[in-house]
Amino acid sequence: MKKLVIANWKSHKTLPEVKHWIDEFEDKLDTSLVKDAVDIVIAPSDLYIAEVADELDTVVALGAQDVSPYPTGKYTGATAASQLASMGVKYAIVGHSERRQYFGEDYVQVANKVEQCIDAGITPVVCVDDEYVSAQAAAIRPELHSNCVIAYEALSAIGTGNTMNPAHVADVRDTIKEVFGDVPVLYGGSVTSSNVTEYAKINDGWLIGGASLTLENFWALLTAVANVSDDAGKNGSFA
Ligand code: 13P
Repeated sequence: MKKLVIANWKSHKTLPEVKHWIDEFEDKLDTSLVKDAVDIVIAPSDLYIAEVADELDTVVALGAQDVSPYPTGKYTGATAASQLASMGVKYAIVGHSERRQYFGEDYVQVANKVEQCIDAGITPVVCVDDEYVSAQAAAIRPELHSNCVIAYEALSAIGTGNTMNPAHVADVRDTIKEVFGDVPVLYGGSVTSSNVTEYAKINDGWLIGGASLTLENFWALLTAVANVSDDAGKNGSFA
């Protein structure tokens, strides 16, 4: 199985910065094998999904950073899963710790977002800390578990430069697979080109924040992943 790398740009970048990143990315792809070795998802602000889609939809999958827990309708300011799907979005990050911390999302809201995504044909990437893997799983209908990708993002590792010990990440991956079943498991939290390969044998991919913001750093990370993906492209693909 190819590794899945999701770039979560969070609330970074203006339109000119997005265009610049895309231009640099296109230049690299012309001369590289990375696109055959790794499944890449770009999750920009919703505002720029169309821009990324127009330029890169043949080489990356589109991601959203969040989704409404409600369908289309009278929900001012919310973006419904079916609206994202109509823009070509294939993955949506749900329950990111920053959403839980700053926007008060709870297990039930995250579960409702999972429902909306699956109804719209979008794969939910459910973020969990090890403290609440089971509580979050319990809130999501069991029959939906197999449709999820789970991202283990330790609170202490996000944006801090303090990555989690790979042995601990492996333990959490095992817990995730016990409660969600044999779903793809990603790791996120201060992952860079220097440490990404430490997790290559443990997880199915990564959720990348800061190291996805400049093309230079992101490209170094993708190249490192491609170099360890011996079976890349031979056993199927996420995107
Ligand atoms: P950093 O890679 O900046 O630590 O962010 C991780 C993250 O939150 C990705 O969703």
